[in-house]
Parts: sequence; C-alpha cells; structure tokens
Amino acid sequence: MSEFEIPAGGLVEAPAVAQPNIFPIEWRCETPKLAEIYERAKREGFNPADINWSELSPEAWSDDEKVAIMYWWALLSNFDSSGPAVFARATIHAWEMHEEDPVRKCFFSITRDETNHEETCQRVIQRLVPNGPQGFTPTSELQRVALNNIGWLYHNGGRYWTGYNRAIDRYPLAVIFTSFMMGEVASSTLFHGMAHATTHPVFREIFTKIGRDEARHLQICINLLEKEWPGLTDEHKTFITKQLRAGFVFLSMVLWEPPAQFWDLPC
Ligand SMILES: [Fe+2]
Ligand SMILES: [Fe+2]
Repeated sequence: MSEFEIPAGGLVEAPAVAQPNIFPIEWRCETPKLAEIYERAKREGFNPADINWSELSPEAWSDDEKVAIMYWWALLSNFDSSGPAVFARATIHAWEMHEEDPVRKCFFSITRDETNHEETCQRVIQRLVPNGPQGFTPTSELQRVALNNIGWLYHNGGRYWTGYNRAIDRYPLAVIFTSFMMGEVASSTLFHGMAHATTHPVFREIFTKIGRDEARHLQICINLLEKEWPGLTDEHKTFITKQLRAGFVFLSMVLWEPPAQFWDLPC
C-alpha cells in the first residue's frame, strides 16, 4: 500500500484564496530595519505590574488634587487606552493586505505596548480616584467640570474611532499611519520631557518607560512612510498633509493648545 493516494486524474491544485484574506501564510521580509525594531520591542517592553505602586500614595494629595492628576491621565487615556484596539485593527488589516512580515509584527508590538500603556493609565487613575475616570461622585465644582470634560472627550474619541474604521479600508496603510505619526512624535517628546521634569519617582519611571516605547513607535512610522512614500499618489500625499494636521488637533488636548477647529473632523 502506498503512503499517498493520488487521484486518478492527478493532483488537483487548490484554488487561489479570495482576497483580502489572512491566507495564504507567508513571511516576506522587505525592510530588515523593521525586523530589527521588532526584536528590540520584544526586549525593551515593560510590565506595569512591576512598578512600585505603593510609592504612589493617594494620601499625599487633597481630593481636588487627586482628581486634577487623574484628569490628566484620563486625557492621556484617550490615546493610550484606544491604542490597543486601534493597532489591533491595523494588525489584522496588515495581515489581510499581505503586508511584509516585519510590518505585521511591528503593528503587533505596538498593540502590545499600548496595552501596557493602557494598563498604566488604568492603575494610576484607579489608585488616585477609585472608580475613575467616570464612575466617581464629584464633591466640588472643579471635580464636576473635570467629569463633564472627560465625558465630552470620550464622546469625541468615539467619533474618531468611527472615522478610523471607515478610513482603514479606503486608504493605504502608510497614509493611515501618518495620522498616528503626529501622536508618536508628540508622545515620545512629551514623555521624555516629563520624565525629566517630574519630581515623583513613580511618574518618572512610567514616563521613561512609555517614552522608550513611543520612540520605537515613531521609528516604525518613519520606516513605513519611507518605504511607501515613493508609491503614493499626489491625492494621497495631500491627504497625508491633512492627516498630520488632524493628528495634531487630536493631540492638542494633552499639549494644552487647542486650535480653533478642534473637533472639525475630516469625513
Ligand atoms: Fe502609547
Ligand atoms: Fe504609541
């Protein structure tokens, strides 16, 4: 008895997989630099549970001060807590579009890192204001205003999410990713600056670790753009210019400089 059973008419080749699809499986590598960054991501990531949270003592601040600090972390959450879902979607999209292997792995690493950043926001917020950012009962005017602002912030974050979901199938990934580039430029700069400026040891450790991740994300975006830029149409390039501006507008809430067309979203 033979080990194989060949049909009488010979082997029948499998039909091509209808695209877009994550199959067939392949591991193309066109940009070794991205593979190198992914290797670094595996080593440099951090575990938010290892931060010495007992050093962040809620007793050190008044109730209003705690809400004020929590408020800033709630603003940061708009980016860092949406990051996991945003990049998870981009990762799946990269698989379906058969992007080279290092691109898919870099997106996965950003998803992983952003989940750590999200957990960090969660831990700071809940340590300072239990049930924060939205489940606490305000006891002063300042706290009521902060809570109301957070509600609007997340409402608008939701609008960005809807826009992102619409855009992801319409534009090349490099175009989509320039929207994040402003975020990565701003956050790597912001976290490095804050790591130096803060006097609190827990915040210094957090800012240093998140800053290192964000610098890597920025490198990923730049490499992706360098790889894709020559193939982009003029229309896409104009769109990228708009996206860079929209990215800045979105980020302005943590940079304290909201421009006039703050929530004027392109459709
Ligand atoms: Fe982040
Ligand atoms: Fe990032």
